[in-house]
Amino acid sequence: MDYFNYKDGQLFAEDVPVIDLAARFGTPLYIYSRATIERHWHAFNDALSGHPHLICYAIKANSNLAFLNILARLGSGFDIVSQGELERVLVAGGDPAKIVFSGVAKSVSEIRRALEVGIRCFNVESIPELHRINQIAGEMGVKAPISLRINPDVDAKTHPYISTGLKENKFGISYQKAREVYRLANEMPNIEVRGVDCHIGSQLTELSPFLDATDRLLVLLDQLKEDGIEIHHLDLGGGLGVRYDDETPPEPKEYAAALLQKLKGREGLELCFEPGRAIAANAGIMLTTVEYLKDQDDHHFAIVDAGMNDLIRPALYEAWMKIIPVIEKPTGQHQTYDVVGPVCETSDFLGKNRELTLNQGDLLAVRSAGAYGFTMSSNYNTRCRPAEIMVDGAQAYVVREREIFEDLWRGEHLVK
Ligand code: LLP
Repeated sequence: MDYFNYKDGQLFAEDVPVIDLAARFGTPLYIYSRATIERHWHAFNDALSGHPHLICYAIKANSNLAFLNILARLGSGFDIVSQGELERVLVAGGDPAKIVFSGVAKSVSEIRRALEVGIRCFNVESIPELHRINQIAGEMGVKAPISLRINPDVDAKTHPYISTGLKENKFGISYQKAREVYRLANEMPNIEVRGVDCHIGSQLTELSPFLDATDRLLVLLDQLKEDGIEIHHLDLGGGLGVRYDDETPPEPKEYAAALLQKLKGREGLELCFEPGRAIAANAGIMLTTVEYLKDQDDHHFAIVDAGMNDLIRPALYEAWMKIIPVIEKPTGQHQTYDVVGPVCETSDFLGKNRELTLNQGDLLAVRSAGAYGFTMSSNYNTRCRPAEIMVDGAQAYVVREREIFEDLWRGEHLVK
């Protein structure tokens, strides 16, 4: 559930008419709802209440400082994949002791900085990475807390580009090798083994792949116990899907209940989740204006002012995202449109075959755009990236200004 609803035929973000935001701030425009962000975070946190746990929001989904700060104030942890993300969390007031660091290519300086600020755990993805962390921690005279990201080889049944838990994917350490690598880690002088981690993919709409992965990890946990290796936490990554159309992904509480069932007898084992999309996607919309309506024989195009540089998911994954009018109209004269952007690429579309009643100048909202929307945006075609607005009740805050042309060539120089 989110707080983007129609009242008397017009779309509101919480208590603010979306049309007013378009008038004040222009389009394309990202709009987020604080109440929705908080609601989604609490859904995860409450689902695990009574069991030791930490929700580490995956900031790649939406890393706006205001977004992170709202979660930091709730006591959230964070899952990061770069030093840039680390610095963002710190600037936003996040607690370094609640940061987990994922990613296959952690550089020397990233590891050093993470140790310096005292993150909670490195989710280690390879043996060479383990050696590198051990060496840097030794140089710094500290012990590095780690978990190994295990690739459990389960099919997440999601789009191949966002599936990460199969053995042909680049992520993690193979399940078959896991025990051996834990033994190696345990013998390293500057490594402190803390957890077991996995992340099998994104936009999962069924529980079974999560549960299969958990079963495999619990077998590993028992083997590690036999080896005298104590595991403090189990991090199951992110991946819980959301409703873009008519999907019926499990609720966090169903997911948690099924897991807690499996964790009977392991009450001390802390559980971590790294949700990104499930917190952010439906906490945001992207607003766009119809520039032109164009007919090409019997094909109808709504050409809008937002393109694949602003929101790349449809172009990159053929992702279906719901497109709705900001002002509802009688459906009488609807037409089937391809909603396309200004970028010079055939893949520049926000949606195809959409039944809409449109006039030039109308405002459209792309729903579920709070995750992997702005964070994946670019300046392709030398386009300024949109502003971002955070709505909180009847208040609207500019949480990122619209880029201006000078921003686009900042740092560029002419040759002599
Ligand atoms: N943890 C790790 C280690 C991850 O790699 C990811 C996402 C997450 C957590 C958060 O997963 P989520 O809860 O959001 O599913 N750009 C794609 C999604 C890529 C996800 C990458 N990893 C999209 O727009 O669909």
